[in-house]
Amino acid sequence: MRTEKRKPIRVDFNNMTSDFIGKEGITTRDLNKIKPLTGQAFAAYKDGRGKGMMGWTELPYNQADVVADIKKTAAEISEKYENFVVLGIGGSALGPFAVFNALCHLRHNDLPKRKRKGPKFFVEDNVDPERMAALLDVIDVSKTVFNVITKSGSTSETMSQYLIISDLLKKKIGDGWSGHIIATTDEKNGNLIKLAEENGFKTFFVPSSVGGRFSELCPVGLLPAAVLGIDIDEMLAGAEYIDGVCADSDDIYKNAALMNAAMQYIAIKKGKNISVMMPYADSLKYMADWYCQLWGESLGKEKSLDGGNVYAGQTPVKALGVTDQHSQVQLYIEGPFDKVITLIAVEKYRKTVKIADGCERYPNVSFLCGHTLNELITNERIATEYALQKASRLNHTIILPSVNAYTIGQLIMFFQIETAYLGAMLNIDAFNQPGVEAGKNATYALFGRKGFEEKRAEIEASPKKKRKLII
Ligand code: PA5
Repeated sequence: MRTEKRKPIRVDFNNMTSDFIGKEGITTRDLNKIKPLTGQAFAAYKDGRGKGMMGWTELPYNQADVVADIKKTAAEISEKYENFVVLGIGGSALGPFAVFNALCHLRHNDLPKRKRKGPKFFVEDNVDPERMAALLDVIDVSKTVFNVITKSGSTSETMSQYLIISDLLKKKIGDGWSGHIIATTDEKNGNLIKLAEENGFKTFFVPSSVGGRFSELCPVGLLPAAVLGIDIDEMLAGAEYIDGVCADSDDIYKNAALMNAAMQYIAIKKGKNISVMMPYADSLKYMADWYCQLWGESLGKEKSLDGGNVYAGQTPVKALGVTDQHSQVQLYIEGPFDKVITLIAVEKYRKTVKIADGCERYPNVSFLCGHTLNELITNERIATEYALQKASRLNHTIILPSVNAYTIGQLIMFFQIETAYLGAMLNIDAFNQPGVEAGKNATYALFGRKGFEEKRAEIEASPKKKRKLII
């Protein structure tokens, strides 16, 4: 039986079609033409699931022991500590921060302790010195647990944060400092696992078959979520539901993730090189950030699986409804025809706020009286959808019955499966990130790390900057 909480997300594709937006839209003929490709993508997903770097497909099913350990550890942390700080970057940070914002009070850290379901929460995904200094101004490290998350155990940003924090902990706490660190990393490879073994940190593992941006539903995301009092069983149940409906049929009219991938594929071929993600909910603002990494890093590839140059990808852009109606939407409606816009609708917000009476003398304002902010945000979304449709702009709407652990689990799995389908259709490896590695290696070289001498020489041999162009 479907409870109020356990409702499915749905996708409204009407405004992607020529029936609604005219010649810019996708036709049934377009979809029929790529049927062999959607069939192949579906088969590739089915064959690949659980293998290679597709271990994330099985996370709803194979983590019972891990989940039990996570819940036990989370309860201990909540009991003992005032702050929980994630040290990580990219796939090791975006998911935890997105889920925190989606499922906790929007002013979580400002609430008094008795009103929070967990410690104060911080995700430090940059090495801006001012940011680290600012964090240390507001937390007492002796009342804080640091979750160092790095699958590779060698990412400069995360390891430099680890060094700063472990040094501080040693100085401030002495013996027992290691109890303030939880390491989430690869079970066998990298520096962090060695440090964890040396120092006796509590550890959780990122399965070797799960890449950073596909890792929210493993301990990378589940531990921070559980510490915050989020129902991680519900998140996994939501993901399992989507796996059931989006990995079960190669009929695009029964499989919304495959339909979405097919429509994005056609859109890309028609020159729509930008994917805008625009949730109409502050709680989902950072889900758009998480999506941008998933979409950008997975699909932005130079090489096809056959080794040819393809320079694939679609640039992800985040926007927030209604805020960006007064910033970006002008461009979306009147600018170049180069975008697919994904709106995220929430049917039932967790709060209702009434707009008070007043201003009766001013009809331009008084029409709002007696209504709610819920009605206003909903009508503004419908109005934007209509304006996009009238302007012949490809757009579709993902409908969340409400924002809860079950629908967030669904949303995460939905985008992951869609990304895998589209990667297969584009004939690229959606699970590697050679571009990111190139940047990481250049940083190591600039620091003179052993083994990166050749890279350093290469950087030093690059053309000197022209002074006249630095104005
Ligand atoms: O998706 C990815 O694989 C990357 O964004 C990584 O998550 C990011 O580079 C951080 O890597 P690591 O977890 O090894 O520190």
